[in-house]
Amino acid sequence: MSGQTPPIGVFDSGMGGLSVLAELRRALPNEKFMYLADTAHVPYGERSEAQVRSLTAACLDWLRDQGCRGAVVACNTASAFSLDFLRRRYGPAFPIVGLVPALKPAVAATRSKVVAVLATPVTLRGEKLAEVIAQFAAPAGVKVLKLSHPELVPLIEAGQADSPRVRDILREVLMPAQRAGADQLVLGCTHFPFLAGAIRSEFGDAFALLDSGAAVARRTQHVLGREDVPSSREEVNYFVTGDPAQAAPVMATLLGEAVQVEQAHIGASDEQAFQQVAQ
Ligand code: DGL
Repeated sequence: MSGQTPPIGVFDSGMGGLSVLAELRRALPNEKFMYLADTAHVPYGERSEAQVRSLTAACLDWLRDQGCRGAVVACNTASAFSLDFLRRRYGPAFPIVGLVPALKPAVAATRSKVVAVLATPVTLRGEKLAEVIAQFAAPAGVKVLKLSHPELVPLIEAGQADSPRVRDILREVLMPAQRAGADQLVLGCTHFPFLAGAIRSEFGDAFALLDSGAAVARRTQHVLGREDVPSSREEVNYFVTGDPAQAAPVMATLLGEAVQVEQAHIGASDEQAFQQVAQ
């Protein structure tokens, strides 16, 4: 069977999931991954729950049909309301690993009892965040500040993760959180670990930065890891639903290595799902 082990699918609305992919590659060094970015429809964060669900299902159908043995939804927005639906849709034959903002470790670490979560509107009103607030923050008396800005994801997609505009936005959004005493900043969108440099430059060590990448990688190892993976160099194939030529240089910058990006041709039924949600 050597060389035949099916890949693990990794999905995000765009480039954010690359921050999770980095952790997956560290935790599962012999695996093959297939990364799919729905760059034709990013950002998801301002869409309706129904739209996010249909787009996510169309992309996961595609990864399954490409022969992946399961998928990591490397997107908080796509995980926020859709995980139970997706697990019912695919059943145990195609396991789904999702993610939740890293609020639990933030609650454990805060000294000020104030933590901030920077995420998209869908994630901030999502059931997964509500669950962790009710389970961990509320019983510990920790206040959770919910922060968002509609331009951040598009700017990162445009390759401007550390631009003057991003820094202006970070000051506008994070200064009130700093004044309110937040000492932990949960990066609740997989795009936002790419803002760490800009946040540190503007705010120094004012906040501890937390994301879910390493936890998701451990969970993936548990759910999708296999003993019989031949020891070979890990391998990633990159696909986008939009223009590969536009995506490739941004992906290369975020990954720190050259990449070949291919077009994901979404099949007829998936295309229908896309049409239904197009505005
Ligand atoms: N990367 C996605 C997340 O983790 C969000 C980006 C978007 O708005 O599409 O939430």
